[in-house]
Amino acid sequence: MTLDFQSLEKIPKHVALIMDGNGRWAQQRGLSRLEGHKEGAQSVRAVLRAAAQAGVEYITVYAFSTENWKRPPAEIDGLMKLLVHSLNEYEQELHDNNIRLLVMGQFDRLPLPVRMRLQKTIDATAHYTDHTFVIALSYGSRTEIADAAKQIAAKVKAGEMKLKEVNEQAIANHLYLPDVPDPELMIRTSGELRLSNFLLWQLSYAEFYITDDYWPDFREEQFFHALEAFNGRDRRYGGMNKKQ
Ligand code: FPP
Repeated sequence: MTLDFQSLEKIPKHVALIMDGNGRWAQQRGLSRLEGHKEGAQSVRAVLRAAAQAGVEYITVYAFSTENWKRPPAEIDGLMKLLVHSLNEYEQELHDNNIRLLVMGQFDRLPLPVRMRLQKTIDATAHYTDHTFVIALSYGSRTEIADAAKQIAAKVKAGEMKLKEVNEQAIANHLYLPDVPDPELMIRTSGELRLSNFLLWQLSYAEFYITDDYWPDFREEQFFHALEAFNGRDRRYGGMNKKQ
């Protein structure tokens, strides 16, 4: 089946994804949770490919939250190893499609071999400008906003910033990736209606697309359906509907 991305009038510049349901997908098949995550990693690859084809400039995936550190050590270890393995697998595709890799979150909490592997690809793809792939790792939005507030407070205290300069733009400028535009579309799989501490600030005006598919079943075709749904939305940003 060929997907006609060119038929879509509006393509979101940035799509953020909450990849949920790997565990349930595996459980349904009598497989280990890690098998679910492995299949999920193939969905990441499929979405990256489809996004490049559709002309989506930024993709952000929620791969590991600050809450995920509470999972059993074997699952955490498996996820970290899978991340390294996936980077080895996808790196060539990042080069072929002009995709730059960025990471957002508490980088220092990640195991050293994972940080080193990530840094290698971040450096090797830093010059690409067509597409950006952001992996949220050990990420929590409230911590991100609290850290921004702390940095701003320190600047005000040091006299580097005036109190009247503390506004929405100043907060946005102190988040982890200030140069990445806010997502226009947020996709969550496995039917959950929650934000789970993901990009609370950045998703203020995003359209939400929730699907019952488990993440390992979310591939090019499902991504295309999400973009189709986005096309049918009338984005108002709190203003008037054009048709009224
Ligand atoms: C949520 O499913 C998924 C995760 C916590 C991990 C997502 C990670 C990957 C897909 C690995 C590859 C990532 C990259 C960037 C290569 P869950 O375990 O919470 O599922 P459940 O809710 O059904 O238990």
